Order: sequence, then structure tokens, then C-alpha cells
Amino acid sequence: MQTIKYTFIGPIRQAVTMARLPLKGALKDEQLHVVQEAGILIKNEEIYEIGPYWDLYPEAQSIGAEMVNLKGDFVALPGLIDCHTHICFGGSRAKDYAMRNAGISYLEIAKAGGGIWDTVTQTRKASLEKLAQLTVNRSNRHLKDGITTIEVKSGYGLSVEEELKMLRAIKLANENTSADLIPSCLAAHIPPKDFQGTQKDYLKKISEEVFPILQEEGLANRIDAFIEETAFTSEDIQSYFQKAKEMGFDITVHADQFRTGGSKVAVDFAAISADHLEASSEKEIQLLAESNTIAVALPGASMGLGVAYSPARKLLDAGASLAIASDWNPGSAPMGDLLTQASILGTFEKLSNAEVLAGITFRAAAALNLADRGQLKHGFKADLILFPTDDYREITYQQGRLKPSIIYKNGIEIK
Ligand code: NIG
Ligand code: FE
Repeated sequence: MQTIKYTFIGPIRQAVTMARLPLKGALKDEQLHVVQEAGILIKNEEIYEIGPYWDLYPEAQSIGAEMVNLKGDFVALPGLIDCHTHICFGGSRAKDYAMRNAGISYLEIAKAGGGIWDTVTQTRKASLEKLAQLTVNRSNRHLKDGITTIEVKSGYGLSVEEELKMLRAIKLANENTSADLIPSCLAAHIPPKDFQGTQKDYLKKISEEVFPILQEEGLANRIDAFIEETAFTSEDIQSYFQKAKEMGFDITVHADQFRTGGSKVAVDFAAISADHLEASSEKEIQLLAESNTIAVALPGASMGLGVAYSPARKLLDAGASLAIASDWNPGSAPMGDLLTQASILGTFEKLSNAEVLAGITFRAAAALNLADRGQLKHGFKADLILFPTDDYREITYQQGRLKPSIIYKNGIEIK
């Protein structure tokens, strides 16, 4: 029989629960549910109760909860969720960054045989164990910044064996970090140069030889693809996504990064999310707003490439759901600081605190199809982070400089 452990944390000046908010559309700060002078009672790995500290105190004492008495000012938020990363990779692309700043574009570098293919070469050279270790190191850095759930894509293997190696490395990494890693298969990242055959032949091979193993070994239940003329076209991807859907995978799409087309595919396949959207026009914004597909802005990719931000304001005003993720990868988004990037997107796109925070908590959970996290609420995972401040508005105001100083994952403090 499992022993029950209660932990009572407080007093917390403000607990911003991110509960009671709509999944879609614009949000105002006044809509935030903020518990003042709060206490949070944790039961094993879940939040049991959240409310005014002195109201919960007697109960917490009587059930023998471990009392964590906070000294000083703290603001609590749900553990942050980064719903789009590529942190399983070998090597660096510092030279691409310098080349781009010298005037050669991301797509030009890719066409000349560098870019993503360069990382594929370096990732293939790394052993499974080495890749797992690199992924653990990056996950732990993210966890220290308050990110308790991290999506991680494959996509630098680009062959049956190398994609499986990456996904097995992500699985091994997940066993060796306290953060939750949510894997996605991005074998459809770019067409591999060393494959004999067409784009469709490659995708067919992946769907026949990789998809079943993903399910047998529990390696991923999400299938991603980069829809772009230089990667996979809307037409190339049809039967691949069809097969993925029939097998019960969730679909997610790298959409409208440099030109439009991807978000239509995402909506047609009822994808869980359509990510990037830097090039989306009014038409795509409308399409996404009318769908249940979550729009995911990746400000780190705009900063890494020096291009416009995704139209976050317009998406929200049109009624879409907006998550914000780091896209942490060696090419387009090497910084990997989610809170900084989300805050800066807020500055440029005129987002409320509620919209920015929703984008990295419960709306990001929805982009991963996870219903058990992203809010401080009874029955939800006890993933919570505490910032040393007395006003939640300081968090975005300091544009990522203010980091959480106390982090709980599954009810356990991360030291
Ligand atoms: O989300 N656009 C495609 N894929 C990644 C970049 C990967 C890379 O450049 O290594 C992205 O930006
Ligand atoms: Fe990406």
C-alpha cells in the first residue's frame, strides 16, 4: 500500500492558478484567478487543495502534512510547459548563425547542404547514450528555469535506425531527469540527402517501419512534419499523416514558417497544434481561429533568425488558442530561454500577462494533449514554481530575468 504524504506550502503572496480561463481567445489580466496569501496542500504527486493559507492551515496540521513555511515574498505559478523543442542533438551551428548575420539566409544555407543536414551529420555521429546525456543536461537547465514539462522532437536522424536511436535516447533521457519529456517523431523534418527515392518513398518507409515501433516501444505518440517547399509539401504529407491518424497518433505541424500552406494541412488533419506561423496571413489566422488546433508561437526562432514574430495578437483576437514555446534547437533557436522569449513576444505583440502566462502553462498543456497539468488545481500534477516577488506582473516585466527560486515537480522540491 502506498503511504500518503502531504506537504503544505505557504504563505504565498499570490498564487496565480491559471484555472477558470477559456482555452481560446484573448485574455485580460482581470480574468486571472489569483489567490492572495495562499497555501497549497499537496497529496503525494498531486495538488490536493489551494486556498487562503490560514483557512487550510488547521487541516494541514491535523493530517500531519510536512509544513513548508515560506519566508519572504513569493508568487506561485504552475510549472511551465515548453511544448516545442529539438533539444536532442549533437554539435553546434554557431557558424550558421554567423553566416546568417553576414547575409546568407536560413533556406540558402540549407540548400547549400548545411543547416539541418549539418546537425543530422553531427547527431548521427553521437551514440544513443551521449545523445541522452546531452538531452538530460538541457532538460535540467530548462527545469531550473521552471519548465517542468518539455516536448522533445527527433528529426536529426532521418533514417529508420537513426530516428529510432534519437527517440530511444529521448526515452532514456526521460528516465534520467525530473522533468517530464514528451517525445515527438519528426522523421519528416527534411528529406535525407542519402535516401534513394522520392520524398513520398521516404515517408512511406518511415510510416511502415518506424510508426509500428513507436507504438511497440512506447517511443512517441505524436507525429510532426515540416511543411515547406524545401522540406515536405502539403501534397507529400497527405498519406503520411493519414496513416499516422489511422494508427491513433496525434499530429503536430511545423507550419507557415517561411511561407503559408502548413496551417491548412494542420487544420485539415485536426492537428493538435500548428507551430511557427511567422508567415501566416489573415486567411491562415482565420482558419486556425475556427479550428481546435492550438497555434504555437516560437519567438526564439524569430530571434534566432532575425525575422518577424508570429501574429500572436491577431491570432488571439480572432479567437485562436495560443501557446508559446522555445523551439530550442541548434539552428534557428539556440537560446532556449522560454520565459525570456515569451515575455519579449508579449512586448512586441502587445499581449497581456494572462495571455503570455496561459501560453506557457495550460494552453501549452493543451498543445501536448495533456489534461493533468498547467493549472494549480485539485487533482492536477503538483508541478509548481515560486518566484521571489510579491507581484505576478514582475515576471514578464523583468523579461525573463526573474527566475523561479523554488521548483516542485510531482510534489517534490527540485534542489
Ligand atoms: O523549428 N524549421 C524547421 N525546424 C526547426 C529548426 C531546426 C534546425 O534548424 O536545426 C525549427 O525552426
Ligand atoms: Fe521546431
